[in-house]
Amino acid sequence: MATLAAALAPTLRETGLDVTLEHGARAYFNYYWLRDNCASSFDPETRERVYDIFAEDTAPRAAQADIIDSALVIVWAGSGHRSTYPLGWLATQARAKPRHDPAVLPRRYWYADHYPAMARFAYEAVSTDPIALKNWVHALLTDGVAILTGMPDSDQGLTDAANLIGFPRPTFFGAYFDVKLHIDPDNLAYTAKALELHTDVPAEDLAPGVQFLHCRRNSVDGGESLFVDGAAVAAELRRTHPEDFRLLCETTVPFYNEHDAYDMRARQRVIELDDQGDIAGVTISQHMADVFDHDQRFLDAYYPAFCRFGRLLQDPRFVMRFRLNAGECIVFDNHRIVHARSAFVAESGERHLLGTYTDRGELRSRWRKLSGEGRFAG
Ligand code: OGA
Ligand code: ZN
Repeated sequence: MATLAAALAPTLRETGLDVTLEHGARAYFNYYWLRDNCASSFDPETRERVYDIFAEDTAPRAAQADIIDSALVIVWAGSGHRSTYPLGWLATQARAKPRHDPAVLPRRYWYADHYPAMARFAYEAVSTDPIALKNWVHALLTDGVAILTGMPDSDQGLTDAANLIGFPRPTFFGAYFDVKLHIDPDNLAYTAKALELHTDVPAEDLAPGVQFLHCRRNSVDGGESLFVDGAAVAAELRRTHPEDFRLLCETTVPFYNEHDAYDMRARQRVIELDDQGDIAGVTISQHMADVFDHDQRFLDAYYPAFCRFGRLLQDPRFVMRFRLNAGECIVFDNHRIVHARSAFVAESGERHLLGTYTDRGELRSRWRKLSGEGRFAG
């Protein structure tokens, strides 16, 4: 059996070693990576890495390596430190693929007829029942939109709802905003005029991820809500006009919001892709778009693409139109769902939405924990 043992023995090389994994394949692992990821590198309480690889003045090198009880055991040159790596764990790492993320769920695109099917949850249920909370988070990750019903008629109600999936996240106009008539408005939202389809606050470097609009009063004539799945529209543009789609993905355009006390500016891509080339989000706002500062010849191609996408967003196939009622809070992915409202008659009644934002990172974190598929689960 000496030959078999030899075949299984790790082979030490200059910068790393070869090891036979349990399914028989030989795999190479780099010494820096091995040393950095020794189990003892992580604090058992905080689970953060406490080993400092920058403090090593020579490159890590194994003095000895053996397979003992289905684990690779290394004794490091110099320090004599001993590290143990289960072969099963090494096999998952050898795939060199981004780690599976349970919060990357397939999106369910939706269209104009979505209103009766839109996910709805009683506020009472999501705040007391972890299954309802999980279903709400799932709807936000897959559909990008859901309605909470039976909200308390209080400012605190919105804070409590936001805290279920994140932390109220301020923007340059504060942590909360009141969408109602303002005497001296600095934003179209605070008038009775129509608001064209948009995502909120692209003038912020990191536009807020999840938006909450808690309807406190809505008795006016008009003021209907229009919601569109921007990812579904972007997918349609990719299918029908791939060159336009490419321009919107590759080009950053300037957004701004400037008034007496602030001057916010940021550049954004109208369509954003993730590392896999899938549609990750959309950003659109004619109110906050700055004067495009590109080469005029480039704009000969960009503007038609931009307008094609803007018109496609308004296509009746995609627009879900409904009335938001007092006691409801619509919650949606501000990097996917594009929203608007129709004009209303100011004197016809009262209209008041209280808004806030949280971010998408906390929403995904919530899902990983609620789904039981977190990094340290099991
Ligand atoms: C906003 C907004 C929607 C509404 O304030 O950004 O989209 O229905 N409001 O008033
Ligand atoms: Zn808005």
